Amino acid sequence: MKMWSGRFSKELDAGVNDFNSSISFDHVMYREDIAGSIAHAAMLGARGIIPAEDAQKIAEGLRGILADLESGALPFDPAAEDIHMFVEQVLTERIGDAGKRLHTARSRNDQVALDLRMYLKNQTAEIYASVRKLTGVLLTKAREHLETVMPGYTHLQVAQPVTLAHHLMAYAQMLARDLGRLSDCYERMDVMPLGSCALAGTTYPIDRSMTAELLGFSAVSQNSLDGVSDRDFCVELGAALSLIMTHLSRFSEEIILWCSSEFHFIELDDAFATGSSIMPQKKNPDIAELIRGKTGRVNGNLSALLTMLKGLPLAYNKDLQEDKEAIFDSVETVKLCLGAFTPMLETMTVKKERMRAAAARGFINATDCADYLTRKGIPFREAYQITGWLVKMCIERGCTLETLPLQSYQMLCPAFAGDLYRAIDIGTCVEQRTATGGPAPSAVAAQIEELTARLSAL
Ligand code: ARG
Repeated sequence: MKMWSGRFSKELDAGVNDFNSSISFDHVMYREDIAGSIAHAAMLGARGIIPAEDAQKIAEGLRGILADLESGALPFDPAAEDIHMFVEQVLTERIGDAGKRLHTARSRNDQVALDLRMYLKNQTAEIYASVRKLTGVLLTKAREHLETVMPGYTHLQVAQPVTLAHHLMAYAQMLARDLGRLSDCYERMDVMPLGSCALAGTTYPIDRSMTAELLGFSAVSQNSLDGVSDRDFCVELGAALSLIMTHLSRFSEEIILWCSSEFHFIELDDAFATGSSIMPQKKNPDIAELIRGKTGRVNGNLSALLTMLKGLPLAYNKDLQEDKEAIFDSVETVKLCLGAFTPMLETMTVKKERMRAAAARGFINATDCADYLTRKGIPFREAYQITGWLVKMCIERGCTLETLPLQSYQMLCPAFAGDLYRAIDIGTCVEQRTATGGPAPSAVAAQIEELTARLSAL
């Protein structure tokens, strides 16, 4: 029998019960639900809204339920409407009348908002720690590869030389912003909605600050309608998770390219790659591909959340139950992906010679050749054009800017002299880009220090 069966003359259709029920996915919030109820009961007892001994019995009963759920002695009832009803029902079965007093001055509408905020606060903190760990791995790798020259690309065409450290630090910067977004989300999640009740608060003399304090919240919600219908925190977290996935996905795409025999910039550890069922030579970057693929579902979840909310009138509507599967899936997916990505990156082998050889192709130093002429007093646009002719000449002769004889340079522009070859040396091209944010080892070392300091101040 449903707790709300009083005004009904028939039992709920079994199919509708399944359709309506959320316990199959909201049972993961059992700890938060129980902790929320213990705090609520303590507050009711302290305010004399329920007898102190009932508050005591409720707390003991709930602790027993928690222990039995943790040990597996108490299975979740799949026919229960949701985790909130389930816990309350078991409590009442176990302790009788006192259990029936727990829901005084509360509604499932504020209860679910509370549970979800508590659950997602914990998950956000967990994901934060994982992103931070990955950032640490990137910083370590970057320190090792300050001098590892590689081609930088635009349009996936060789553009200008950079270093692997510089490239890795670009991702470290993205992840640092992800950390900022996660702590922003956390701050707005950290608001206690209990006491909003169904939508219009309550006439009982509750103490919301006490409940908030017991549960470790920094603030209480200031509007009961908003308290039960706000899911901005799910959307914000969903968006932050989408961006984390987007960063992992772009990185994964590069790892996939770098593993190919055409690039062969890196080799994944055997423990983090897979074989083919038919082609014996294959070593596939499945992890990176799966992360790239899973980004789609996390983006889909964000879109589902936004779409679910956009037409909802205040306050609670059952549509809101759809928030959980979407955000839980994003949370689990991101945890899974970070758990696989971080050790994959940590254990990969870098093929420094291959990176350097690739950087020597594709006239990667053409900009530096033009810059050389500019330093000799030729206007940049003219220098650019002369260098274009030189590249064309090299392509026709099948040589590179480094191997083209000085006479050929001087034929096009007499400003060229013997110091040209040092100026267009790939090492020089990288080393001289010393301004803040540039790939020169000194600049990247400074970048690593800056980010390390920023992270340790968090
Ligand atoms: N399972 C519900 C949810 O996830 C809990 C709130 C139900 N409230 C209600 N008035 N039916 O949203």
